[in-house]
Amino acid sequence: MNKNEAIDYCINLAKNAIENDIRPNPFVGAMIVNQADQVIGTGFHQKLGGPHAEVYAIEQALQKTTDLSQATIYVSYSKATLLNACFFTNHLKKRPYFILKLASTIDGKIADHAKKSQWISNVASRQYVHDHLRNNVDAILTTYKTVIQDQASLTIRNTVGEIRETNVIIIDKNLELVEKKYENLPIFYPRSASKIILITAKTPSIQLPENIKCITGLFDEQGLLFSSVSETLLEMGYYKILTEAGSQLNSSMIHQNIADELYWFIAPAILNDLNALPMFGLNEFRGLDKKVQLSLIEIKVIDQDVLLHYRIHQV
Ligand SMILES: NC(=O)c1ccc[n+]([C@@H]2O[C@H](COP(=O)([O-])OP(=O)(O)OC[C@H]3O[C@@H](n4cnc5c(N)ncnc54)[C@H](OP(=O)(O)O)[C@@H]3O)[C@@H](O)[C@H]2O)c1
Repeated sequence: MNKNEAIDYCINLAKNAIENDIRPNPFVGAMIVNQADQVIGTGFHQKLGGPHAEVYAIEQALQKTTDLSQATIYVSYSKATLLNACFFTNHLKKRPYFILKLASTIDGKIADHAKKSQWISNVASRQYVHDHLRNNVDAILTTYKTVIQDQASLTIRNTVGEIRETNVIIIDKNLELVEKKYENLPIFYPRSASKIILITAKTPSIQLPENIKCITGLFDEQGLLFSSVSETLLEMGYYKILTEAGSQLNSSMIHQNIADELYWFIAPAILNDLNALPMFGLNEFRGLDKKVQLSLIEIKVIDQDVLLHYRIHQV
C-alpha cells in the first residue's frame, strides 16, 4: 500500500463519524501497518471529548504486537480538506461554516408572488432536511421575515412526529419579533435545551427571557454585514449553521462570500410567474465574469424531487 492509498483508507475510516456531532473537532481516521505492510490497527475519532483516532489504532495494534517501533501510522488529518471543510473554515477564516438550503420549482422559484412557499418540495425531501441537515448543525439561520411569513418553528421532527429543539439565529435589525404581537409565533415554543439568538442593531428595551439572546451586528443599506458577527457566533459554539431563508438573505450570503455549501431541492413543478420569488438575485447588473462557481458533490432523487448538493467556491 503506498502513502496515498493509506491516507485514502484513513479518510474512509474518518467518514464513519460523519453523522456524529464532533464539532469543533475534525473527522480523523488512523491506520497502523507493520513492516510486512499488514494493517494491524485502525481507528477514527468517534465523539467529541472521546479518544483520538490514533488511540484506537494503537490500542488495536498493541493487541497484535507489543513492539510498534518498526510500524508506521497514517493519519488523515492534513489531507481530508473536503471532509473537514467546516473545521478548516472555522480555523482559517474564523467564522462558522454556512450551508444554504433551498426548495424551488424547476423555474427556480422559492415562493409564489404572495410569498407562500408551503409546500414546494415533497414530504420525503422535507424529512431529509430534518434527518440530515437540521440534525447535523449547531443552529439554523433565518430572518424575521421568513419566521413571520412561514410561521416557522424550525424544530427537528423525526418520522414518528417526535420533536427535538434546535438553536435558531434570526436576523432582526429592529427587534420586530420581540414586540408583543409576535409573542405567539411558533418559533417561541417553550425551550429547555436551545436558544434563539437575535442579530440586531438595537438594544432591547424589555427584559428578554433567558433563552433569547441578542448580539449586535453592523448593518448597511443591504442588511447585515456578516463580518461583524462571524467571530462572535463561532465563540458562542455555532460552528456549522444551516441557512433556511428567502431570496434576499441567500443572495447576500453569496455576495458576502460566506456561503460554503448548497442543498437545492427541485420539485417537478413550474410556477411560470415572473413575479414569484427567485432563489437568488441582487438588484444590479452582474456580467458572466462575476458568476459564482459551484462544484457538484452529490445528486439524489427523493421520490420525484431532485436534490443537488454543491460546494460553493469562494471568490
Ligand atoms: N422555498 C424555500 O426554500 C424557502 C425557504 C425559506 C423562506 N422561503 C420564503 O422566502 C420568503 C422570504 O424571502 P425574502 O427574500 O422576502 O426575505 P428573507 O431573505 O428571508 O429576508 C430578507 C430580510 O432580511 C433582512 N436582512 C438583514 N440582513 C440581511 C442581509 N444581509 N441580506 C438580506 N436580508 C437581510 C432584511 O430585512 P429589513 O430590511 O427589514 O431589515 C431583508 O428584507 C418567504 O415567503 C418564505 O416563505 C422559501
